[in-house]
Amino acid sequence: MQAKERTLSGMRPTGSLHIGHYFGALRNWVAMQETCDCFFFVADWHALTSNYADTAPLPGFVRDMVVDWMSTGLDPEKCSIYRQSDIRETAELHLLLSMITPLGWLERCPTYKEQLQNITDKDLGNYGFLGYPVLMTADIIQHRPHWVPGGQDQLPHLEQAREIVRRFNGMYGVEVFPEPEAKLTPAARCPGLDGRKMSKSYGNGIFLRDTMEELTPKIRGMFTDPARLRKSDPGNPDVCNLFPYHKLLADEETQAEIRAACTSAGMGCVACKKIFLENLQKFLNPIRERREAILAQPGLVDDVLAAGGDKAAASVSETMRLVRAAMHMD
Ligand code: TRP
Repeated sequence: MQAKERTLSGMRPTGSLHIGHYFGALRNWVAMQETCDCFFFVADWHALTSNYADTAPLPGFVRDMVVDWMSTGLDPEKCSIYRQSDIRETAELHLLLSMITPLGWLERCPTYKEQLQNITDKDLGNYGFLGYPVLMTADIIQHRPHWVPGGQDQLPHLEQAREIVRRFNGMYGVEVFPEPEAKLTPAARCPGLDGRKMSKSYGNGIFLRDTMEELTPKIRGMFTDPARLRKSDPGNPDVCNLFPYHKLLADEETQAEIRAACTSAGMGCVACKKIFLENLQKFLNPIRERREAILAQPGLVDDVLAAGGDKAAASVSETMRLVRAAMHMD
């Protein structure tokens, strides 16, 4: 039997997950756990790079994230789920890689430049923030995976990881690390309720934990085609914020019917939102049921993280032996 391809990905714990996280990443993870040898980790050290001042909510966020992951179908029997900071060797690898990473690579990173400009409510002039891609490289290559599933936004960081790998292998003359490859999540547009990018900080999200009572007013207030003022005006699904959701949640036939009814002014936005809400309920119900079952088992999250951490530790210590030998640090 051919060994399963190793896969690794992570997310920063920032509170409860919204459906953009599901369609942009988790959906893919849940599929990959069936065919690959998967590690998924909660990047709590990465959360510190911008939220170093207020660390009290972090442990809760870590647990919430694991509950959200499992409620969407990540199954600890099929993949390893662990917490980044449980694997101290990642910090050792990060330090060693930091020695061979030119500053220019980090300063040129597009996400670094962009965030430095856009995030003005925090001081990001710190060393850890600049080194975000080095830590991310350590996260990835410590498991020597084939695949790193993620969205388009992660590509610059992954490219950085590949460059560091080439430099390491070249400098120490041993192929310790294979170059990890991106597994892009098929593009899924999930605009926020107001049409901006869905984000917790904009308050425009549809969360996996939202109840029907929370969802109803949110969906009612959603922006649709701004040119459609009356029900008798024909609408344009291609500029509407709602229609991308029908593409994700409705079958093709229903999508075609909705499109036809909208463009011919046969159906108004209120009725269209009703269909969306119903489909959203159908999508969220099994997630809610799994969440209930998870929360009914008090020690479960800790057990999952402990077991996943053991498996991650075994994989990493193997790599670290090779790294220390390559660098004459053993
Ligand atoms: N950068 C990822 C995010 O924005 C988190 C992350 C950290 C990650 N290390 C990683 C993703 C390694 C994939 C692989 O959430």
